[in-house]
Amino acid sequence: MNIYNNIADIRQSRWADPQLSWGLVPTMGYLHEGHISLVERARQENDRVGVSIFVNPTQFNDPKDLAVYPRNLERDLAMLQAAGADLIWTPTPEQVYPPEYQTYITVETVTQVLEGAARPGHFRGVATVVAKLFNVFQPHRAYFGQKDAQQVAVIKRMVQDLNFNLTVISCPTLREADGLAMSSRNVNLTPEARQQATCLYQALSAAKAAFEQGERSANHLRQMMTVVIQAAPLARIDYISITHPDTLMELETLEQTALFSMAVFMGKVRLIDNMQMVS
Ligand code: PAF
Repeated sequence: MNIYNNIADIRQSRWADPQLSWGLVPTMGYLHEGHISLVERARQENDRVGVSIFVNPTQFNDPKDLAVYPRNLERDLAMLQAAGADLIWTPTPEQVYPPEYQTYITVETVTQVLEGAARPGHFRGVATVVAKLFNVFQPHRAYFGQKDAQQVAVIKRMVQDLNFNLTVISCPTLREADGLAMSSRNVNLTPEARQQATCLYQALSAAKAAFEQGERSANHLRQMMTVVIQAAPLARIDYISITHPDTLMELETLEQTALFSMAVFMGKVRLIDNMQMVS
């Protein structure tokens, strides 16, 4: 496994054999099994796997959130070595955004709702850094977790709009035994908040069961999820949403595939989760 922070070294390693296919797994580090499942999928589908570890400052709209973002490079590298990654980019913020830096990517409508509405500028930062990662690695395939469903929708839109020559692959959310979606942020939950954080999965599961029994009113299903979340004393709802999975426009009646998603503060930690339901 080669580890570099310099772009020239990454490019040299990436192009050592131009015949090989490459998969890229972009990360912000503090890896968990969810990230490793992306690396494993990339391993199955490509000759070589590149991984970036970079806590991207431009996607944090709250500097306090950036300051407490968990990091453990040594453990991340050991996990990636065990998972069979080939090439790791660990740039500094100055290497990604040198002092004269002034170019950003704005994906429009699909970033204006849900996470985009709650975190102004977040997707501008995500789209910009992901476009840079695509340019540095030039992968054939890039792997993202479906837990960040809006991020996947935004990146797919950008790839299509800017004609990036690669396939974006969205991989299933990995969950803890009690259903909590794996996230690097879970480590910041207090023990009580961690216990109650299963309410997100419970709410989505309740809506899924009702949907499978034929409930098609988005309002009823949103209400059902709200009631489950409100039963957890530490939970504060940011949004609960049922949208079209690509456009992220809110639905009234469910006639096709729909994305059920939510953001909930558990104490001070903001968690997101989602499930896709197919009619
Ligand atoms: O999902 C993440 O960890 C980040 O948003 C990403 C895609 C690595 C960009 O910084």
